[in-house]
Parts: sequence; structure tokens; C-alpha cells
Amino acid sequence: MSDHAEIVEVGLRDGLQNEATPVDATTRARWFNALADAGLNRIEAGSFVSPKWVPQMADTDQVITGIHRRSGLSIETLVPNQKGLDTALAANVHRIAVFTAASDAFAQKNINCSVAESLERFAPLIQAAKDAGLAVRGYISTVVACPYAGPIAPGAVADVTERLLELGCDDISLGDTIGVARPKEINAVLDAVLPLVPAARLALHCHDTYGQALANILQGLNRGIRTFDSAVAGLGGCPYAKGATGNLATEDLIYLLEGQGLTTGVDLNSVCQIGNDICQTLNRRTPSKVAQAMQC
Ligand code: HMG
Ligand code: MG
Repeated sequence: MSDHAEIVEVGLRDGLQNEATPVDATTRARWFNALADAGLNRIEAGSFVSPKWVPQMADTDQVITGIHRRSGLSIETLVPNQKGLDTALAANVHRIAVFTAASDAFAQKNINCSVAESLERFAPLIQAAKDAGLAVRGYISTVVACPYAGPIAPGAVADVTERLLELGCDDISLGDTIGVARPKEINAVLDAVLPLVPAARLALHCHDTYGQALANILQGLNRGIRTFDSAVAGLGGCPYAKGATGNLATEDLIYLLEGQGLTTGVDLNSVCQIGNDICQTLNRRTPSKVAQAMQC
């Protein structure tokens, strides 16, 4: 089993999409470059979604213009439809992420269609992205619970996973969108999903609303998963999942992974300092226990 863990940094997308005040593209590009310099190789630059729905992500193409490209760096964006894919291709990203849910109620609120409709929409989109040489991630939200429909059956997550794989997704990120999941529940989801997809193609995306994210990541590690999403300074939330707080902080994730004997290639001190810069700009205290302890 691999002793390297891959971190997908989602703070500039998942985090900033939820900020009341949009952050300008120059600042976002500066943070992106600093995160890449800290050793993060997979970073979400933002989303190509409707600016009417998520105005904070409106100028993601300008963020990407300001990125210092280097070999091994994957610039990633969310894409919900053909219009988003066209913009992503023009911006020369490396990977797009399509996003749906295990709950129809959440998909309706988030992308204005049912899960089945979203998968129909993704089919030509994923094909076109792959034809253009892009990697494609498939996000599944609400894998344990939905803010509108309540508990989600693991079988529903398995069904969507299977369809996204059939459509050509390279990796699947399982999202605990509202951060309520506990290890037993994550284990049940993995019981349903792991027979369908090798752990190497799965990621866990844990929001930390109830403080369970690290415990859930550890559960994923024990089941062979080596890719985890996190957000510098624990930024994040989803505008369509009220009350959900940020993702697990990247600082806390690095500390856990390296303590478990895995390499991440990411410099913890540098990420703490970037987190500090972001918190000062956004005028807030970091929720990261590791950053607090290290007093960056
Ligand atoms: P719709 O209103 O059904 O779509 O939205 P539409 O096709 O009728 O378009 C409406 C308007 O948006 C039109 O403009 C389009 O041109 C424009 P108008 O003609 O009215 O002037 N538009 C676009 N503009 C730019 N780029 C585009 C685009 N598409 C349409 N790509 C749609 C459907 C999917 C577009 C909308 O619902 C949407 O953008 N949703 C995005 C929601 C979102 O970004 N949520 C947060 C990310 S998901 C998340 O955070 C969860 C995750 O972190 C995992 C987890 O935690 O579980 C990934
Ligand atoms: Mg999220």
C-alpha cells in the first residue's frame, strides 16, 4: 500500500465560494501560487459555474491567468455543464470536477436538477473533457446525510459511484457535505463503494462541522484511501448546505498523515503561514488546531 498521501487543496474553491465578500482574483492567484510553492500539487482554482448562483467564483479564469505553472502542478476547477467546460478548456486547466449528490433534494438545490438528470448532462461533458486530454473527477455530495432529505443509504452512494465510473471519471470524491458523518458511517459507505472502485481512485472530502473529519480520514486511511481533500485554514462550506462549516484544515490533515508515516510532500509551516495570511485578510481566527498550536 502506498506510503504517499495526496492532498487536494479545495480552500480557494470550497472555502471562498462561501465567503460573504468575494476575494479579488489577484489575491486568489497569489494564495494559489503560495500553496503550490508549499508543495501542494492538486489545487482547485475555483469553479466555472453560473455567477448568478455563486458570484464568488465569477472570475476564476482570471485567477488561473495569474498562476505560475510548473510541472507536476494540476490546476483543477468545478464544471457543471458544457458552458463551464468550454471556459475550463479555454483556461487550460488540467482536471475538471463534475459534481452531483447521493440525494435528489440536494442536487436540486445545488445544480437545479435531479441526480439522474445530472448524470445525463455529464455524459457528453466527461467524454468531451477526456477527448481534450483532461482528467475528470466526480464529486458525490451528501454521502452520509443530506440537509434536506436526512440520512442517505450507502447503496445510493454506490449507485452514483458506479454511474460516474461508467461515464469515465478518473477519481471519485465522497463528500460529507454537512460534516456530520462519523467513522462507523464512513465505513458503511466504503463497504458499499469499495467493491466497485479501487481505493486508489477514491478521495474523502470531509467537512468538519461536528469535529469528526480527522477520525473519518483515519477510517479512510485504514481502508486504503490515499487521497484527501482539505482546505487551508479550514475554509469552506457550500452555499446550498446552510450551517455546514469548513473542510478539514489542510494543516491538521498534513499533521495527521505525516504522523501516520505517510509522505505528503507539503511543507506544514508554509501552509500555516498562508492560512495565517488568509485569516488576516478575511478577518477571522483559524479553526485549525495545528495552526493554533504552532502559532503561525
Ligand atoms: P440553471 O439556472 O438551471 O442553468 O443553473 P441555466 O442553464 O438556466 O443558466 C442560468 C444562467 O446561468 C444563464 O445566464 C447561463 O448562461 C448562466 P442568463 O442567460 O440567465 O444570463 N450559466 C453559466 N454562466 C457561466 N458558467 C456556467 C454557466 N452555466 C449557466 N457554467 C447550474 C444550473 C448548474 C448552472 C447552476 O445551478 C450552478 O451554477 N450551480 C453551481 C452551484 C455550486 O457551485 N455549488 C457549490 C459547489 S458544490 C459543493 O460545494 C460540494 C462539494 O464541495 C462536495 C461536498 O462538500 O459535498 C463539491
Ligand atoms: Mg465541499
